[in-house]
Amino acid sequence: MITCHCNIITEKEIIQAINVMLDEDCWQLIVPVKLYHAMEKRGKCCRCFPNVVDIIIRTTDEYHTRFNWPEEDRIPHRLKLLELRNHYAGEFNEGRQSGHRAA
Ligand code: FES
Repeated sequence: MITCHCNIITEKEIIQAINVMLDEDCWQLIVPVKLYHAMEKRGKCCRCFPNVVDIIIRTTDEYHTRFNWPEEDRIPHRLKLLELRNHYAGEFNEGRQSGHRAA
């Protein structure tokens, strides 16, 4: 499934890139810009970023579960990722930039 239509990036490619980054440092905070840089891509419209953050959260959680990292180590990292999701959800809510006015 295509996640980023500007760059034609599939969800599978995103998951693979996240896992490579986590293999390098399993506790790094992966943000969409950093991920796209690693993939030698760049955000254009950036409307895919909220979905990319959801994939980052899910994939990171699966990665940490796979290696049996203790839950108490995972919670602070998960909180940072949820903050990141709130940031992008607010900024790109329904495809509108913050400050957008309907009327
Ligand atoms: S859809 Fe990903 S940058 Fe536009």
